[in-house]
Amino acid sequence: MTSDGTPSPAPSSVEHSPSSKHEQVGAWSALWASKHRCDESKPQEAALLHRIVPAQRLDGKACAAEVEAALLQRVKTLTANGTIPHLAVLIVGDDPASHVYVNSKVKMCERLGIRSTHIALPANTSEQTVRQHVAELNQQDDLDGILIQSPLPNHMDEEALTDLILPSKDVDGFHPQNLGRLVQGRRDGLLPCTPSGVMRMLDWAGIDLKGKRAVVLGRSRIVGMPAALRLAARGADATVTVAHSKTEDLPSVCAEADVLVAAVGRAEMVQASWVKPGAIVVDVGINRVDDASRERGWRLAGDVSPEVEHVASWLSPVPGGVGPMTIAMLMENTVRSAESRHVGGTE
Ligand code: GUN
Repeated sequence: MTSDGTPSPAPSSVEHSPSSKHEQVGAWSALWASKHRCDESKPQEAALLHRIVPAQRLDGKACAAEVEAALLQRVKTLTANGTIPHLAVLIVGDDPASHVYVNSKVKMCERLGIRSTHIALPANTSEQTVRQHVAELNQQDDLDGILIQSPLPNHMDEEALTDLILPSKDVDGFHPQNLGRLVQGRRDGLLPCTPSGVMRMLDWAGIDLKGKRAVVLGRSRIVGMPAALRLAARGADATVTVAHSKTEDLPSVCAEADVLVAAVGRAEMVQASWVKPGAIVVDVGINRVDDASRERGWRLAGDVSPEVEHVASWLSPVPGGVGPMTIAMLMENTVRSAESRHVGGTE
């Protein structure tokens, strides 16, 4: 971190000998201790500073594969009873990353036997046209889920369009009725996919959140805010802080976290010295950064510096962490919607 509050440049990726890596981890831990006002006379706190085991992989890909296997059975049961779950994905414009995400969603539908309708509209489409599409999809009885890929072009009111989706088909979980249920602590609505993916991965890794201090970096309606609600909800029972662009002394706030969920959309912003040794770190970021060494000229980077691996006890990779889980949770929401719309619900 520089004195003006901006993150320091990511540490170089030169290979470290084991002893210099030790020293580096020691330096990060000492920095953390100074932010956290660590009391080294307490054995528990002192032990943290000498932790040198690399983080375990919070493997979203493996967890998503288990979710998919269970969903396959549910889709088979639905199909045998005459209902093929059906998801419509609507995308406007030509943002390449968004098209990649939408294609992954469509492919996952194919793998699971879920029917998909892919509506791709040009960037200059009017908001009224999108409204008409949503109204028609709402009416379509054989359709269980509607997703409008974000971001939409600037001339559209994304929230207003999301609000038009029938709550029972809102597989993104962004409709005020679904988010309102989440605030009420209810589980009968459709829940936002990325926070669900984060919670499922933590559960899959056997991590008990009860009483832990969680810090969520980012307050978006898609990830940050619903993730904070899920972490604080009964059953999860973490104590949650939501940090954002106006938070003062972000490194010190992060230094308090037993569980850090980074969802700010800034490549490798979270530095090793911000992270409590042994913390659980979930990296929600998927950022494209220039990389001349790659044929395509870019690589994917999370919101967390790779060096955090040497400080955290668990770290989700990018790619292969939260990304596959988000899609798996979208499929689960679609199947759940089909079950409750056609069979009266199985959960
Ligand atoms: N764009 C990035 N993430 C998401 C998501 O979870 N849902 C939608 N609809 N758009 C996104």
